[in-house]
Amino acid sequence: MSVVATATLPPVVGSFGIGRSRRGVSRIKMVVRSGVVSVAPILTKLQSECATPLPVLRRVADEMTADMRAGLSVEGGGDLKMILSYVDSLPSGNEKGLFYALDLGGTNFRVLRVQLGGKEERVIATEFEQVSIPQELMSGTSEELFDFIVSGLAKFTQQEGENFHLSPGRKREIGFTFSFPVKQTSIDSGILIKWTKGFAVSGTAGKDVVACLNEAMKRQGLDMQVSALVNDAVGTFAGAKYWDDDVMVGVILGTGTNACYVERMDSIPKLHGSFSPSGRTIINTEWGAFSKGLPLTVFDRDMDAASINPGEQIFEKTIAGMYLGEIVRRVLLKMAEEGAFGSCVPEKLFTPFILRTQDLCAMQKDNTDDLQAVGSILYDVAGVESNLNSRKLVVEVCDTIVKRGGRLAGAGIVGILQKMEQDSEGLIFGKRTVVAMDGGLYEHYPQYRRYIQDAVTELLGTETSQNVIIEHSKDGSGIGAALLAATNSKYGHDY
Ligand code: BGC
Repeated sequence: MSVVATATLPPVVGSFGIGRSRRGVSRIKMVVRSGVVSVAPILTKLQSECATPLPVLRRVADEMTADMRAGLSVEGGGDLKMILSYVDSLPSGNEKGLFYALDLGGTNFRVLRVQLGGKEERVIATEFEQVSIPQELMSGTSEELFDFIVSGLAKFTQQEGENFHLSPGRKREIGFTFSFPVKQTSIDSGILIKWTKGFAVSGTAGKDVVACLNEAMKRQGLDMQVSALVNDAVGTFAGAKYWDDDVMVGVILGTGTNACYVERMDSIPKLHGSFSPSGRTIINTEWGAFSKGLPLTVFDRDMDAASINPGEQIFEKTIAGMYLGEIVRRVLLKMAEEGAFGSCVPEKLFTPFILRTQDLCAMQKDNTDDLQAVGSILYDVAGVESNLNSRKLVVEVCDTIVKRGGRLAGAGIVGILQKMEQDSEGLIFGKRTVVAMDGGLYEHYPQYRRYIQDAVTELLGTETSQNVIIEHSKDGSGIGAALLAATNSKYGHDY
């Protein structure tokens, strides 16, 4: 679809200040323009700078592979931290008993319990609850955040129904999914390297997050124990592998992004020869920190500079749900300043993160002739009054940013798969290989999903890409964490 991005405006004599538009929307900056204004060049430039033709995809995939190797060679060798998960044995299906999962990774935390019934019965019952984290706790103190989480966990534990049975003499065990970069020190401990995704909680970085959780449980008299600390990508991987042995990669595309995969211990030089019994382990790549070869624009650079972690998580800031809406807002603001939406710039458009990725998705889903939903969202969310032309323009902007994100995510996936293939010829591309995906962006944004698949097919070719199955593993990370708590139970296995 192409649009003519012009709007006819009445001549305006510049005057600046907060005014009220016809429909009561605050408009603060008058655009000094006369006659026909064209913002087409902004869109054209954006599309060309965000373009991801095959050579760009290939470069990103190759850089991803190279960076993985660099991060495996020495600590800090590349953008990718390539963190050892200490998950050396995976759920086999034989796991039995009651296990909990606690999942902290975005604006919500989830608690979940699962009753496992072994090979025959598998997952007998699950229950979960989701609690949203108040904004102020995301920049409060570590104690406040962990106390809040533990009080949610305590409440949830009290509602344990009769489908759930704890074996006598045992404490309730938890798989703790903590979806931030953590330097694992064992399967049940790890130091927070830094917060991401807008969290700026003081006093946690540099500390063992399981110890933080244990202290909060002690403060509140909750007698449970953490048996596994896992990243959400690792949890998703484990949850999917429980059902399908061909799963080799786990990917999260939600508020943030990450990927993990199965690695051979002898391909990790920085380990200096330590081995797990299986000879394999799961590596948490922390690919959100990747930055090489990405097609970036002034809008990305400005957003990064204004973020709480400038210069960090560049791949994440280009492809993940927290940021796509904000990039689009910045483009629309620029267009508004050039007169795309009338003679004034709506005040709301100046508010960072006011446009969410869900809004982009809802606008892209609008297939009415006059793009009514686009018009309402623009007006309700950003105070933008639009006509059909400007609505088409906005949809094009959304598509440009979402297409770049989805295609780059696809290139990242190929980067991981090709690294695995290089090390074990035929074992990845020569057979069915499953990439387990989770996260709201992947789950709810059909165009984004399609762009991922397009990029994978373009990079691998039709034949090879048929062996690569990208599969949604819904809520895999919660169940996966509970399964890993079972696999790593403090009580050993009686099955
Ligand atoms: C974190 C990862 C996490 C990902 C997805 C990123 O910001 O660094 O640890 O897996 O978000 O939740």
